Amino acid sequence: MSRVALVTGGSRGIGAAISTALKKAGYSVAATYAGNDDKARAFTDETGIKTYKWNVADYDACVDGIHQVEGDLGPVEVLVNNAGITRDAPFHKMTPEQWKEVMDTNLSGVFNMTHPVWPGMRERKFGRIITISSINGQKGQFAQTNYAAAKAGDIGFTKALAQEGARAGITVNAICPGYINTEMMSTIPEKVMNEVILPQIPVGRLGEADEIARAVVFLASDDAGFITGSTLTANGGQYMA
Ligand code: CAA
Repeated sequence: MSRVALVTGGSRGIGAAISTALKKAGYSVAATYAGNDDKARAFTDETGIKTYKWNVADYDACVDGIHQVEGDLGPVEVLVNNAGITRDAPFHKMTPEQWKEVMDTNLSGVFNMTHPVWPGMRERKFGRIITISSINGQKGQFAQTNYAAAKAGDIGFTKALAQEGARAGITVNAICPGYINTEMMSTIPEKVMNEVILPQIPVGRLGEADEIARAVVFLASDDAGFITGSTLTANGGQYMA
């Protein structure tokens, strides 16, 4: 029987590439999405990957949603915490709502999704928790105090939980993508992208979502069993942590 992998924010952007790559690698994949029904339906039609709608910022919704996925596909053995949002603003203009929305999704969302799958992984003595953090959680970023704090928090979460999972056969790792060619980049003004961001990337291009997906497939595999608590950077040399 194939292992079950659950990917949050798994129908668009980096998440869609991860869901597809895991399916291709033989996993039985479920993908969550928060809002865009049309895109999710189109993704399911195209890939055959089942999508489920709930908000990772809502703990009870995560418990119920995971219950439904496990009823449909079986116990979740690989969890990919990919769902994330930006609400960029210079700090002097950032509202409490912008701070809270990003913390609730990008940091608390990781707790909300991991907590319900953890007891089953401990019992079965196998699990993979892979959280998509960000280069901006490592180096900080103009206009992203909220996002950088949440993504740095994801790395701390990963290092702490890896210690708890180690004896139970559960690995817990983070991946820090750099700037990847997805819809999220469309919020960045063209001038900032061309004059500020691109010149900082030594390989001279944005990354592709597939380049992150391949790292996820590796960390999910049995071959990666000795890798836990690690932070894998994939950023074209932009920041060498
Ligand atoms: N680095 C340095 N300077 C930046 C900057 C950046 N990334 N982004 C904006 N600035 C500068 C602008 O060039 C502008 O400078 P000038 O006034 O000299 O022209 C100034 O900041 C804008 O200041 P404002 O107070 O007018 O800002 P605003 O209220 O209009 O907000 C903004 C604009 C939200 C900051 C917008 O410029 C923006 O979105 N910038 C991009 C921020 C960014 O890089 N976010 C990362 C997104 S990618 C991501 O999050 C995925 C990941 O994990 C890698």
